[in-house]
Amino acid sequence: MPEVHVVVLAAGKGTRMKSALPKVLHEAAGLPLIEHVLRAADSLHPASTTIVIGHLAAHVRDVLLKRPGLRFALQEPQLGTGHALMQAEAQLRGASGVVLVLSGDVPLLRAATLRSLIEAHLSHRAVATVLTARVDVPRGYGRIARKDGRIVAIVEEKDATEAERAIDEINSGVYAFDAAPLFGALASLRAANAQGEYYLTDLVRLYADRGLTVETVTLDDPREITGVNSRKELADVTAILNHTRNEALMAAGVTLVDPTSAWIGPDVTVGPDTIIHPNVHLEGRTRVGSGCVIHASVRIVDSTLDDGVVVNNFCVITESHIASGARVGPFAHIRPQSEVGEGAHIGNFTELKKTTIGRGSKANHLSYLGDATIGDGVNIGAGTITCNYDGEKKHQTVIEDGAFIGSDTQLVAPVRVGTGAYVAAGSSIVEDVPAGALGIARGKQVNKADWVAKKKKR
Ligand code: UD1
Ligand code: CA
Repeated sequence: MPEVHVVVLAAGKGTRMKSALPKVLHEAAGLPLIEHVLRAADSLHPASTTIVIGHLAAHVRDVLLKRPGLRFALQEPQLGTGHALMQAEAQLRGASGVVLVLSGDVPLLRAATLRSLIEAHLSHRAVATVLTARVDVPRGYGRIARKDGRIVAIVEEKDATEAERAIDEINSGVYAFDAAPLFGALASLRAANAQGEYYLTDLVRLYADRGLTVETVTLDDPREITGVNSRKELADVTAILNHTRNEALMAAGVTLVDPTSAWIGPDVTVGPDTIIHPNVHLEGRTRVGSGCVIHASVRIVDSTLDDGVVVNNFCVITESHIASGARVGPFAHIRPQSEVGEGAHIGNFTELKKTTIGRGSKANHLSYLGDATIGDGVNIGAGTITCNYDGEKKHQTVIEDGAFIGSDTQLVAPVRVGTGAYVAAGSSIVEDVPAGALGIARGKQVNKADWVAKKKKR
């Protein structure tokens, strides 16, 4: 098998997006458009991958630098798709085999399609093979012109005659090229067309005129080559990606009560027999175990839920771990670096930040627990607050196993409540409470007898 070198064209402006963000960085179903393209390309194990960047190049490069091994070519100014590919010459010097050209704005392409494009290209010993599709509405795309059944040119819409515009076979913008003659041929492109650009598509006519073999592979499902040029198309491809993703999850045993409103990122895993209600967003590296229930309108980012966790409505959980059998919400906010122990309960309007809460412990109502280490079997009363910030530094609160914190307590950190200790409701605890003790820190109650009647007389 000859080497495959991938080039992704991503230098264009994306004018129709009307955006300050480069088009290829707009997200569809949890990933930037270009990341979808790169993942399809990765599965071919290419010898090299080059991204042609231009418009807002630094921004695109910064986002893609997280991926090791990419090469970048700068296209400045942007004079068309042919000119874009010319810029990759230095990165591909001495390369042999196949150059696979992709567009950064075509995110639905499947790896299997790319594989069959390359196979067809190699088996025909072609200099170029174009991925095409037949569509109902060819508007906007380059048309495939054929003579005696063979492709002879690609005609851009703006340069097409009325007869050519009626052709329903379109150019996907995805090509396999023989590496050897490619850059020599690109050098003879001319920009004599309606847009004054160097069209990559003109290579087809150039090769065909020289009697070289140009082939096509035609897709059964034209949706796969949908290009994103506008926000409308971004929404269209997002819906398709989500649909595909959710069908795979359901096939793997996950119940989605409303698949159109379950947004489950490409790198998220969900175990079987988990039930996901409407408007749930699972993002990043989130892992959900089996037999969990995630109720409506929950957002979980980069977190791990073990088996049998229940997340009630309207919770946000970020970079945290929820152990098996725990219950969270409704209306809970679990902020980064929190750990909820096995069978623990975090109830409504409770916020955790950098806090560990042990097995079977409960914080069921209206609490802020930050920078705290809370043991097993602890009861946190309603309205408990860890005062973790003194205006300059954050301090730790430790609550040991079996402790009972009465309602409306402030724990002024750094402070420790020992094993099995009690804290009376309404206390402001500024000193440690030893194990087994009762800490009480509030004004003593005074009842003034008949006070109301006396007041009324006055
Ligand atoms: C292109 C094809 C058209 C095809 C369509 C499929 C040409 C001349 N036309 O048209 O036949 O049907 O794709 O989607 O190739 N780009 C650069 N530098 C440039 C111009 C574009 O890197 O100077 C990049 C863009 O970022 C984009 C890709 O090339 O990723 C395609 O460019 P775009 O302007 O969207 O081409 P289309 O008009 O869609
Ligand atoms: Ca396009």
